[in-house]
Amino acid sequence: MERAIFTLRACSFFLAKAICFFCLFWIFSTPAYAYSSTISEPDSAYLFAYAKDKNAGREGLLYAWSLDGKQWDAIGTELAFVKSDYGRWGSEKRMINPVLFPRNGGGWSCAWQLSPENNGPYAYTFTTDFFNWGRQDYYVELNDLDKSMVSLVNNSLLDREIISINGESLRGTKLKVTWSIIKELIKHYDLALLKQKQWSERSVDDDVRFAGLKPLDVKLTPKIGQSKSISDMLVGVFFEDINYAADGGLYAELIQNRDFEYKLSDKQGHDKNWNEKTAWSMDGSGQFHIDSINPIHPNNKHYARLQGAGILRNIGYDGIALHKNERYDLSFFGRGTAGKGRQLKIRISTQDGKILDEKSLVVDSKNWKKYQLVLTANATCKDAVLEFVFTDRQQLDLDLISLFPQNTFKGRKNGLRKDLAEAIAALNPRFVRFPGGCLAHGDGIDNIYHWSNTVGPLESRVPQRNMWGYHQTVGLGYYEYFQFCEDIGAYAVPVVAAGVPCQNSGAHGHPLGGQQCGIPMEDMDDYIQEVLNLIEWANGDKNSTWGKVRAAAGHPEPFHLKYIGVGNEDLISNVFEERFTMIYNAIREKYPDIQVIGTAGPFFEGTDYVEGWKIADKLSVPIMDEHYYQTPGWFIHNQDFYDKYDRNKAQVYLGEYAAHIEGRASTLEVALAEAAYLTALERNGDIVKMASYAPLLAKDGYTQWRPDLIYFNNTDVNLTPSYYVQQLFGRNNGTEYVPVEASYSNAAVEVQKRVAFSIVKDPKDQSIIIKMVNVLPVAVNMELELAKFNLETEPAVVAQLTGELKSTTAKPEQKSVPVEKLKNQQLPPYSLTIIRIPSRAK
Ligand code: AHR
Repeated sequence: MERAIFTLRACSFFLAKAICFFCLFWIFSTPAYAYSSTISEPDSAYLFAYAKDKNAGREGLLYAWSLDGKQWDAIGTELAFVKSDYGRWGSEKRMINPVLFPRNGGGWSCAWQLSPENNGPYAYTFTTDFFNWGRQDYYVELNDLDKSMVSLVNNSLLDREIISINGESLRGTKLKVTWSIIKELIKHYDLALLKQKQWSERSVDDDVRFAGLKPLDVKLTPKIGQSKSISDMLVGVFFEDINYAADGGLYAELIQNRDFEYKLSDKQGHDKNWNEKTAWSMDGSGQFHIDSINPIHPNNKHYARLQGAGILRNIGYDGIALHKNERYDLSFFGRGTAGKGRQLKIRISTQDGKILDEKSLVVDSKNWKKYQLVLTANATCKDAVLEFVFTDRQQLDLDLISLFPQNTFKGRKNGLRKDLAEAIAALNPRFVRFPGGCLAHGDGIDNIYHWSNTVGPLESRVPQRNMWGYHQTVGLGYYEYFQFCEDIGAYAVPVVAAGVPCQNSGAHGHPLGGQQCGIPMEDMDDYIQEVLNLIEWANGDKNSTWGKVRAAAGHPEPFHLKYIGVGNEDLISNVFEERFTMIYNAIREKYPDIQVIGTAGPFFEGTDYVEGWKIADKLSVPIMDEHYYQTPGWFIHNQDFYDKYDRNKAQVYLGEYAAHIEGRASTLEVALAEAAYLTALERNGDIVKMASYAPLLAKDGYTQWRPDLIYFNNTDVNLTPSYYVQQLFGRNNGTEYVPVEASYSNAAVEVQKRVAFSIVKDPKDQSIIIKMVNVLPVAVNMELELAKFNLETEPAVVAQLTGELKSTTAKPEQKSVPVEKLKNQQLPPYSLTIIRIPSRAK
């Protein structure tokens, strides 16, 4: 129960995003206001702007209009034209007593209180058209605000009025505006309705939508001479330590809380059992307490002090999974004064006491010393425990107790869980982004992820609260991330905070709270230096200051870092721009070859998106990171999203995306919407450089965010249909896109847009790769005009993913097909088909 409550809190961001997203389904449930074509159009009308008390002001700024100032009609049903961006989703982001007034220099200003107390703090933004709003600014002190604004907010200059709509009394600002503004706002609402209708379309409703639809004939004719170069790193992965993806997940360590550094504050005090002793217990009369005097390292303050006789036990992450005959490295730091029983027995056992292996050693030093031995499991056990049996101890201190499988991915020490790492490698990702996500910029500036805290000997790394509501040991740190990238032949794409924390941050000591406070200016030089140090650590000579640290860890050769993300879907405020610009300019100056990836907010539109791109244009940022989690309908109806992008601007990294349905299940339906969109990304591979589905990993029972690509527990790895889509695209990437002309037997756009395709050429083996997605309830008879390709006579490989729309276990099947039989393909309803045909170089 405790955990459930905590998880709910930890996920407020996720829930709030989900609510924003799904509320579209009911916001628009009443008909659009239709203004009569018979009214004679006036020159001006009244616009009323207000916020409701409902949901404590989180519904944002709403509008009504009137010709006479007496009879009012709402514009839309609770369609917010701007919402407060301040503080946490769910609990904050309140707009109280908004007031609108003319802005110096043109347009309109809007100011509001962030809390019900009369003296602020205040937020401020502006618009020229009443639906596109500028950046939001925040003020704590009244003196910070423009004097006239203070008085406006405090009601002395501009009285708020009270109007009534359908018997509901509403308090807000009444303005006289031109009639064209009212008309545009109504149009804006109508358009929003139309989009909502399209984007909420679900394939599971196709029986009605496409009743009587006949199988479709489609002919694809490649325009061979018109091919274009596309990105060679389009499909990659996004790794974030969310859902226990790192500790208890990809990081192969089997001991939970090995360093006794868990803290109540990791879960912000919501779980009283989450503390330095979590996952540990004591049997017998022995005493076990946590001490911090003279620790092994100042960054690891706590250790276990044992006295008397007893058994100290660690339960791992809900049990330790061990495999028969596999070897496990046991290590710990110990110091102590031995009594009569000098021997310390260390064993792995089943929970009912069957010993799987046992060794003894003597902690013979009064000072901290590292002890190591190897245990071999004599049986497979999915939920074993590790035990330290001690007798007659006056004092024994233990810290950093580790049990690590030798059988890690590529046999790396302090490495990765083999099955999970193999599943990631099998995607053939061209890059790995890490460490987040929101984790990269943290919950408040004190929680920003500092890469340099995560390298070096384990005992010197700085563990910290994971903003997803648990603990990061950072045992999986920057060295391990880079090593993994190298091991799988993927570019490392680290993301550092842009000097501001997550836009879901809470207050954390600053009067204006999380996102709105950046790293103080006096600390920015140090922060920028830390970012520059990262580049030296990754690429510098082994004798350089930071290159030495990398070399000492076992990698004298550089890691060849090329890309670095600065910022993660941040709130694009003035505070952000100032800091981003400083970091960006410093990197450009010192490392002009490093490609900086900027950020354009958490949505595909809106203020952060617009303002993020403005900064990109201003600074000539080479790549911009976009994020959007949308409905399958959005992905189907927006396949032309990048067709419209200006090729002279920054390239795009679609850093986080996934199709979401109610219940957040990972079904074939969502996977096919993603597949259709991926063909559009390939078509736009000249401007879309990279894309990564998010999130990647989720541990059963510890999932804060769904859907994810891979679900796992201590023993099993379960791959979703979306995983297979990523894998099919990742393994069948190309660097040349061949445009296609398509003709259809059905002229309906609704039908045509549900058949998506792309053709690329892979220069590695000259293969022609044809990808076809059928998101229709009927078969598609696809005729492929292949004559102009210089094909080999060897058979093609055809991979197909299909099944029930609700399936969460659909897997692709693969077969070999003679080239002469490829011309006519029948694509089953709801399927992705990929044909890989060997060809000769031209
Ligand atoms: O992918 C999960 C989260 O979604 C990421 O941490 C964040 O960047 C986005 O909001």
